[in-house]
Amino acid sequence: MAPSPGGGEVGLDAHLVTGAAGLIGQHVAERLFAHGDDVIGLDVTNDYYDVGLKEARLARHPGYRHERVDLADGAAEARVFDEVAPARVIHLAA
Ligand SMILES: NC(=O)c1ccc[n+]([C@@H]2O[C@H](COP(=O)([O-])OP(=O)(O)OC[C@H]3O[C@@H](n4cnc5c(N)ncnc54)[C@H](O)[C@@H]3O)[C@@H](O)[C@H]2O)c1
Repeated sequence: MAPSPGGGEVGLDAHLVTGAAGLIGQHVAERLFAHGDDVIGLDVTNDYYDVGLKEARLARHPGYRHERVDLADGAAEARVFDEVAPARVIHLAA
């Protein structure tokens, strides 16, 4: 196990889902949770559409670890990868 940016622990086999607050990312994260996998979400939570809807999606899993990061911010992105070292990245941010 490794410390997660969210303060908890994530397994070394964790998935990083970008765009996790979005329509597709939410469903991918839920499938992974249902499979018993560790999920770190990354999303800037932009206002392209209702931010409240996105926040509600993220609140549905108590064990969920989220990073509110803009992928355009290379330093912030690098920090997440350094701290989490995900085994897989599912890139859905758009
Ligand atoms: N929804 C569909 O029917 C559909 C169909 C085919 C393909 N896709 C593709 O799947 C992907 C996801 O689509 P979606 O419908 O879930 O979109 P969405 O807009 O619901 O979700 C995208 C998420 O990415 C986040 N995001 C955007 N820019 C970001 C950045 N710079 N850093 C971090 N996060 C950022 C947004 O805040 C948003 O929550 C897109 O590439 C889309 O083209 C979607």
